[in-house]
Amino acid sequence: MADNAVELIGLSKLFADIPAVDRIDLTVATGEFLTLLGPSGCGKTTTLNMIAGFLTPDAGTIRLAGRSVDRLPSFRRDIGIVFQDYALFPHMSVADNVAFGLKMRRVAKPEITRRVAEALDLVHLSGFGERRPMALSGGQRQRVALARALVIQPTVLLLDEPLSNLDLKLREEMRLEITTLQRRLGITMIMVTHDQGEALAVSDRIAIMNKGRIEQLGDAHSVYENPGSRFVADFIGQTNFVPGTVREGTQAGGECTVTTEAGNLTLLAPQALQAGAKVEIAVRPERLRFATAADAAMQLSGTVLRHVYLGDHTETHVRTTAGSVVVVRTGNHGEAPLPAENDTVALAAAAADCRVFTAPA
Ligand SMILES: Nc1ncnc2c1ncn2[C@@H]1O[C@H](COP(=O)(O)OP(=O)(O)OP(=O)(O)O)[C@@H](O)[C@H]1O
Ligand SMILES: [Mg+2]
Repeated sequence: MADNAVELIGLSKLFADIPAVDRIDLTVATGEFLTLLGPSGCGKTTTLNMIAGFLTPDAGTIRLAGRSVDRLPSFRRDIGIVFQDYALFPHMSVADNVAFGLKMRRVAKPEITRRVAEALDLVHLSGFGERRPMALSGGQRQRVALARALVIQPTVLLLDEPLSNLDLKLREEMRLEITTLQRRLGITMIMVTHDQGEALAVSDRIAIMNKGRIEQLGDAHSVYENPGSRFVADFIGQTNFVPGTVREGTQAGGECTVTTEAGNLTLLAPQALQAGAKVEIAVRPERLRFATAADAAMQLSGTVLRHVYLGDHTETHVRTTAGSVVVVRTGNHGEAPLPAENDTVALAAAAADCRVFTAPA
């Protein structure tokens, strides 16, 4: 088996001269679960549609299992796809929906019957074969769509927001089922989502897309802990931004000295910065604490605006002396009570938990 299931090389797609996908390079290993994550309109579906062969790229090459498929029609690409809206055939039974891809491929009837039963069993829908999609719940329809894609035994499965129409509980269940299936069957999966929690939970690697480009690629830990740009820091998880000005610039990945309301701080800058540049210090709500700590690089003072109680944690909104609003996340460990609203508080964060990014224009 080829080491790489999917390779995208310089892949672009323009709509009316505007790039929807802009020179993407991406390699997905065989058996990997890769997620494309990004805001609406960043080019996720367009990328999947090119891999599936539903859209022709304007530039670049797609290789599947080491072989260029640029001239291969969709049905010969050995790819399964689960669409954003399931796209089940309403007039067909569940079994016929699942059988569809096999009939298209002219598989013999007895084998179709066997494989459809197998696929329905895989998604826990044995006994539902005779029903129409209308007579199923959203989660069951979702699983029919999954069975229909799996039954052709694709080497690559593309999933476009497969869980977006489900309620939270079901979404978490299906999420688990998909990852279990993926490991058991060894299928390479590329999933599109704009739910960052989902991306963090299921992916071997996450490609964070912005305006048709891949802005960062890495495992959940690295994209969350080490965002390489303000966009990624903002998109993955929650981030506080405290404004400042660069005193001493640096190359990408170096330390720079920044003047902020917390004084002069020397902090890591993932991207190059020049003296005088307007910047923002990024710090996660769970890395800010109510304290003055001698070892903390960043110390702010402010006033508590409000608490948002969320069960397992509380988000406290604090207006700093210079007027930024930051959020402090405190886990519910049943410990000391939080400061009251309108109290003056001190906030602290370690240097290792802060990053400096260019402020948005
Ligand atoms: N057939 C089309 N004709 C013209 N523009 C298109 C077409 N399909 C997509 N676009 C545009 O290309 C860009 C990328 O669209 P795409 O569907 O890939 O986004 P997406 O990342 O999947 O977004 P979402 O999260 O909303 O599904 C968008 O600006 C969209 O309006
Ligand atoms: Mg889409």
